[in-house]
Amino acid sequence: MSFSPKPWPRKLRSQEWYGGTSRDTIYHRGWMKNQGYPHDLFDGRPVIGILNTWSDLTPCNGHLRELAEKVKAGIWEGGGFPVEVPVFSASENTYRPTAMMYRNLAAMAVEEVIRGQPIDGCVLLVGCDKTTPSLIMGAASVDLPSIVVTGGPMLNGYFRGERVGSGTHLWKFSEMVKAGEMTQAEFLEAEASMSRSSGTCNTMGTASTMASMAEALGMALSGNAAIPAVDSRRRVMAQLSGRRIVQMVKDDLKPSDIMTKNAFENAIRTNGAIGGSTNAVIHLLAMAGRAGIDLTLDDWDRLGRDVPTIVNLMPSGKYLMEEFFYAGGLPVVLKRLGEAGLLHKDALTVSGHSVWDEVSEVTNHNEDVILPVERALASHGGIAVLRGNLAPKGAVLKPSAASPHLLKHRGRAVVFEDIDDYKAKINDEALDIDETCVMVLKNCGPKGYPGMAEVGNMGLPPKVLRKGIVDMVRISDARMSGTAYGTVLLHTSPEAAVGGPLAVVRDGDFIEIDVDARRIHLDIPDDELAARLAAWTPNVPAPVGGYAQIFHSHVQGADTGADFDFLRGCRGSAVGKDSH
Ligand code: FES
Repeated sequence: MSFSPKPWPRKLRSQEWYGGTSRDTIYHRGWMKNQGYPHDLFDGRPVIGILNTWSDLTPCNGHLRELAEKVKAGIWEGGGFPVEVPVFSASENTYRPTAMMYRNLAAMAVEEVIRGQPIDGCVLLVGCDKTTPSLIMGAASVDLPSIVVTGGPMLNGYFRGERVGSGTHLWKFSEMVKAGEMTQAEFLEAEASMSRSSGTCNTMGTASTMASMAEALGMALSGNAAIPAVDSRRRVMAQLSGRRIVQMVKDDLKPSDIMTKNAFENAIRTNGAIGGSTNAVIHLLAMAGRAGIDLTLDDWDRLGRDVPTIVNLMPSGKYLMEEFFYAGGLPVVLKRLGEAGLLHKDALTVSGHSVWDEVSEVTNHNEDVILPVERALASHGGIAVLRGNLAPKGAVLKPSAASPHLLKHRGRAVVFEDIDDYKAKINDEALDIDETCVMVLKNCGPKGYPGMAEVGNMGLPPKVLRKGIVDMVRISDARMSGTAYGTVLLHTSPEAAVGGPLAVVRDGDFIEIDVDARRIHLDIPDDELAARLAAWTPNVPAPVGGYAQIFHSHVQGADTGADFDFLRGCRGSAVGKDSH
């Protein structure tokens, strides 16, 4: 922690628009006054942009307009001038072909929204999976004071007395219908129980993971991640964050002061402890790229190895975010990491205090939700990064969501050339597959899908499910929903669509995985692999025109975060000439 607050008062960038008596100033200020703002609001106080990802078509963020009012109240109380600004909102459950394809577009738009307007600091009002990383990426590239406020998770769902986790039970019930254990009518009845209140997915899926990552990075106030969307304390958190951002602007406390290498290391270890989503790998790599931090897949493997998964939440465990909040939430986990020597305690947070200052006094209120280390769900809970001739740049696996007996496995490959091929074949009783096989799915990576769909947790064939088998080894260049589970190797790099070795796997090849040894191997002779790669030709056409063409031309591999090559790094907040 080496931050020194800047002296206050001083001239802020918003005064470039609103300060003085020139014609241009009167132009900017005068138009704002059509909203009924008194003249003294333009006196040099911090102008705070509330970047709101509300959208009717992003249901997880559907309550953020109400929450924005509490943020505004806090900003007024702190002596700032709040302006609510709508920004691109990529809903995980709506956007096609994938929300991931739009993460970079959202991040690029947010960066320009901040830089091009009279904003001195930002409240990033986010929730659904991609909204959190995209806004943090954009804010990091501008590097003005910013604080994250998430919308919070939904309340627990229940169906016939059983907890229903967002996504997790969708996959589970779907497999039960295929196996004949649940009727379609029961499935429809269960649908109504899945989303019981406003908010994001109630499992430790990607939204809850990214909210936890924001808090572990120090970019949100302590305790933010787990408060349910409809709990009154969520509104208190929003108001307090509004107050806090005003002081952050006065102090000039920026993302670059907070998102240091140590902060990212804290986040990676936190991800292991909470059993967080594999999507965090991609998003943190991309966020680090914006912040100019050298973070690699090897950091994920190195830092996660010794971290036990102690948060007993679906999809790895039993409970849901509501119970995590009642148990004490993320501060308890951070305290545990600190006690185990797995936390950089002096990492700075948006509060102006260190992470250890924030969490060292908290109490665990439920040891069945936040487990003692002796009862950890997985003793080595971090993300495992496997490498070998099938994944020279890595493939990732979440051990806490995998089956222990499959972590070392050799099996015959059953290959699906793309997601359509998978859908066409998987329910065919004649498909030559059993539970010892390795399912291989190609062309679902950043360029291949495009946008890296969450289809890596391919559903199993019905004839395997009917035997009571619920897991098989699956390998792809896709991602997986944070709510999903299984022995699923993801993000295989280089992806098939650019000619990675995954592209040349054939039915009947044998594949070996050994998670302890971090090895993934296509068991064919080296010269055979080389010959197949030399003969490979691209089979996914590049899109022509529009954003899809930009995406295809500039997206990088999953192993570095799938950001655009031209967006990495921080470009600062300096802006060019006035428009008049
Ligand atoms: Fe939006 Fe899960 S789909 S939070």
